[in-house]
Amino acid sequence: MEKNVATKIIQKYLRKGNMAMCMRDVLPHSGLAQEQRDAVAKLVHNVVRWKRWYDYVLGLYMVEKTPDAYVEMAIGKHVDQEKKAEKMARKEMNETEYLATRFSFSTYAAETIKRVNREWLTYLNSEPETHLCVDLSRTSAEQVIDALKKEDLSATQHPQIQSCVITQPGARYSTPVEKGFAIVQDVSSQTIAHLVADLLVGNTKKNGEGRDCEEEENVGRKKMLDYCAGSGGKTIATSFVLKKKFQGIGGEKTGRIDLHAYDINRRKLLALKKRAEQTKTDVHVHMEKPEDTYNLVLVDAPCSDLGAARRNPEAKYVKKEDVERLVDVQKEILGEAEKRVRRGGYLVYCVCTVTPEETDHMVSWVEKQGWGLTVVEPGWGVDGVLTRWPRGKGYRTTPAGGDILFVSVMRKDGQKGGDQKKSGE
Ligand SMILES: C[S@@+](CC[C@H](N)C(=O)[O-])C[C@H]1O[C@@H](n2cnc3c(N)ncnc32)[C@H](O)[C@@H]1O
Repeated sequence: MEKNVATKIIQKYLRKGNMAMCMRDVLPHSGLAQEQRDAVAKLVHNVVRWKRWYDYVLGLYMVEKTPDAYVEMAIGKHVDQEKKAEKMARKEMNETEYLATRFSFSTYAAETIKRVNREWLTYLNSEPETHLCVDLSRTSAEQVIDALKKEDLSATQHPQIQSCVITQPGARYSTPVEKGFAIVQDVSSQTIAHLVADLLVGNTKKNGEGRDCEEEENVGRKKMLDYCAGSGGKTIATSFVLKKKFQGIGGEKTGRIDLHAYDINRRKLLALKKRAEQTKTDVHVHMEKPEDTYNLVLVDAPCSDLGAARRNPEAKYVKKEDVERLVDVQKEILGEAEKRVRRGGYLVYCVCTVTPEETDHMVSWVEKQGWGLTVVEPGWGVDGVLTRWPRGKGYRTTPAGGDILFVSVMRKDGQKGGDQKKSGE
């Protein structure tokens, strides 16, 4: 039954692409229970994850590339053929072609990843964990873990980020999530939320947990804009961190920091409003571009998504032309976002990818625009959670089990005093 449903989804995918849409078209009408649907999702993601490799193996053995053939490969029915194909591929291909084929990436993606960090070719093919971001101002990680276990879901505390609970896909329908005590969010995105909250509150150099806002009285009213907020993953996580920092000062509020969110996609903003209500997040949602200026503008830009390829395997086949198009969009967004950063304020640019064009080259481009923006150290970090990006233009998120995100903090000229140092100082 599950295999038939998976085959149907792959059939659609081979015709139309867009796996998320294919699953949405088929799964709700499949008659499968949630657990079975999760198993199907895992199976079809594996087909996409390994598609280039499967194409090679099936081609080598002259097997017709039918939906059924791909599903059989993903189930592991052709292990012997795969072993022989591996030997053949090593013999007949140059190194990049071999890596691209064996690890199933576009040649462009394989070459790019190989240059930045070869180990990521393996990492980006692993099964992602499901992470929850817990609102520690309203509950504890332990309470959430207990609640998940009562619902037969495995749950453990993340070793580095206290707001993060590692669990299973089914947790998105669990009581803590339904009641808004937690949201599903990868630990690397949670890392960005901690970094942003810390920049807003002041340079506390702690991990953002507990009441570490030492001089609350000195924190004036500040405003943050999440310019590419989507359905609010990072907005809500930032609010959770801020609420914890200001616990007892502002009740369920984010202290003296106002959160604003904008996205070009109104449907996503409507979803954000709903999630904000569910999670008791105080956020001003702007359906039109806000014209104000802010102490911090977060740009979580649309990107080639390679760093999140475990979750979105379609990203593995990105082409150079796709990246070129995205770079134009990112530049346009940064141009708009920059106008909304106050003097002395921060522009935080992040993307879940590793291509130089979308990461450090983009930051160099920003610095050359005469906008008065310079890269500074984030001033926040937990051991092993942020690792410097080559050429000093930012960091990559490296908490255990997380997506690979690039993040760069830039400050606009004009801050009086302050303890932020320029990067490399
Ligand atoms: C990586 S996603 C953001 C995810 C979100 N921050 C989160 O944590 O859930 C990028 C977002 O940028 C939005 N976007 C694309 N072009 C835009 C533009 N020109 N202006 C504002 N937002 C844009 C997309 O709609 C998408 O939601």
